[in-house]
Amino acid sequence: MDKLVVEGGNRLEGVIDISGAKNASLPILAATFLSKEPSVIKNVPQVADVFTMVKILKSLGAKVNHSGNTVEVDPSGVRNPVLPYKLVSTMRGSICFLGPLLARFGKAQVSFPGGCVIGPRPIDLHLKGVRALGAEVTLEHGYVNARVKKLKGARIYLGGAFGSSVLGTANVMMTATLAQGKTVIDNAACEPEIVDLGNFLKKMGAKIEGLGSPSIEIEGVRKLSGATYSLIPDRIEAGTYIIASAMTRGDVTIKNMNLTMFGAVLDKLKETGVMITEKNGNVRVRREKVLKPVSVTTLPYPGFPTDLQAQMMALMCIVPGISVITEKIYPERFMHVSELSRMGANIILEGPSAIVSGQKRLSGAPVMASDLRASAALVLAGLVAEGNTEVSRVYHLDRGYENLVAKLQKLGAKIRREKDIR
Ligand code: EPU
Repeated sequence: MDKLVVEGGNRLEGVIDISGAKNASLPILAATFLSKEPSVIKNVPQVADVFTMVKILKSLGAKVNHSGNTVEVDPSGVRNPVLPYKLVSTMRGSICFLGPLLARFGKAQVSFPGGCVIGPRPIDLHLKGVRALGAEVTLEHGYVNARVKKLKGARIYLGGAFGSSVLGTANVMMTATLAQGKTVIDNAACEPEIVDLGNFLKKMGAKIEGLGSPSIEIEGVRKLSGATYSLIPDRIEAGTYIIASAMTRGDVTIKNMNLTMFGAVLDKLKETGVMITEKNGNVRVRREKVLKPVSVTTLPYPGFPTDLQAQMMALMCIVPGISVITEKIYPERFMHVSELSRMGANIILEGPSAIVSGQKRLSGAPVMASDLRASAALVLAGLVAEGNTEVSRVYHLDRGYENLVAKLQKLGAKIRREKDIR
């Protein structure tokens, strides 16, 4: 296993490229199965979750050519719509095969994904959606078995206790593209990654309206064709570098980035005093003055994303004053709190809220990553801590950040990857 060694105290400065969106790549790669024809997906990030996804595509019988940031999928040979536990257990996002397999083959058997370190990860909304489209769904021996003779469009409300569901919306939207008649998804996820998936489906020939709004209308078609498509940039990766720049009093320009994708992130960072400007399609992040503490609540898009909550907490740890961070998507997603505390942060957990008492400095320490975004937060804290921070279990970061070490080094960070021999 590898670890990252971060030497704190260096200001980040320079220009950085953002990779394609991981959370758009997963449902879009699954969506290629809705057609018998080949598709080409470009700007795919080279991260471990994509490598797992490619393994799954192949194991289901597709021919896949993965070269650099391009993935060509020929799903004509796919026959057996069964996704076994050993593949699903390594990546929860693989649930997004349920819709495409069901729509194309009239049946799907997908291992129930189970929870993960950020809390319970139910799929009741996915199942409610495909049932409303006519599928018979049973849960047996850890598998979701779905069958349908003919999918029929329906009006479906897709909201749960924590609001809309990103992959639930993806699954129902994909299934509905091949259903007979019209489907309306109410309380649909508005995330840019869902818009990206919808745009890819439209390129395949699907008829979809209302993308980016809570009401998506899909008029089913008889078949879809293959398509060539380039993914949007990863707003969570970009947000991570924006926060890194703010933390290190840096001056970082993010290339080819569109500020409209950031929603509440922009608002909250400006409220703290971070200067964010956009010019010619590039975003520049600077911090000159002392930042102010803020209250942040994670919510579905365009609210503040749960996937930037840990990184925002790392920033608040060094902003003098009291900040309150409330997690309304995954109320237990606070595994980073105890590790940030090991670095000298002062954080009290009160149910789904973290009360952060900002300190002038953090102190480098060996810390352990628990999930992808928590790991990113620990790296950010390491960039400003006194001395060295060792972040172990780097495989979490490999799941979702392409070339993290090289990108940070290019901006002037002192960071290296080493074998963890503990
Ligand atoms: N939920 C239900 N029932 C369901 C589905 C979800 O109650 O059937 C609840 C969840 O428990 C959660 C909330 O609804 O409280 C939102 O979950 P959602 O379904 O939107 O999450 P997801 O689609 O499984 C995606 C991202 C996550 C990201 C969440 C929220 C992918 C592959 N994953 O997961 O990304 O945190 O949306 O924005 O797109 C990450 O990249 O680090 C990551 C965890």
